[in-house]
Amino acid sequence: MRETTVYDCTLVELPKNHFDRGNITAVNECLEVPFDIQRVYYLYDVPGGESRGGHGHKQLQQLIVAASGSFDLIIDDGRIKRTFHLARPNMGVYMPAGIWRELDNFSSGSICLVLASHEYDEQDYIRAYGDYLNYKK
Ligand code: TYD
Repeated sequence: MRETTVYDCTLVELPKNHFDRGNITAVNECLEVPFDIQRVYYLYDVPGGESRGGHGHKQLQQLIVAASGSFDLIIDDGRIKRTFHLARPNMGVYMPAGIWRELDNFSSGSICLVLASHEYDEQDYIRAYGDYLNYKK
């Protein structure tokens, strides 16, 4: 299989249904995201200056959205790094498996919404960057 790189991560514009009384964005599995959604989780109340999510996944695919506020998503394939500044609830970044990621620069009150292809499984995590680099070899 071809090695996954940061260029396999894509910025996805989600449909925005605009109403004078507010907006609605829906994400459908296998439509706006190329996987079955088995889990939804969200990060919130992240203290200023804190960073999250320094890890990689062996199988998990994800769509990451700033449902409120903003933050930076730094992705890394062991060779190249890219940073996405997420600040709109109808923009997400699709991440295939095998990419290292970190989240930082959270604005006050921000919410990082993650749609994930699998249930939580600690065995799927690569927690140390050195282990990640070995995994990519
Ligand atoms: P983790 O994904 O390690 O967050 P981060 O890398 O941003 O620090 O999750 C932290 C803890 O939260 C993890 O050890 C267990 C728990 N957790 C769940 O129970 N279910 C989940 O879906 C997630 C994402 C985390």
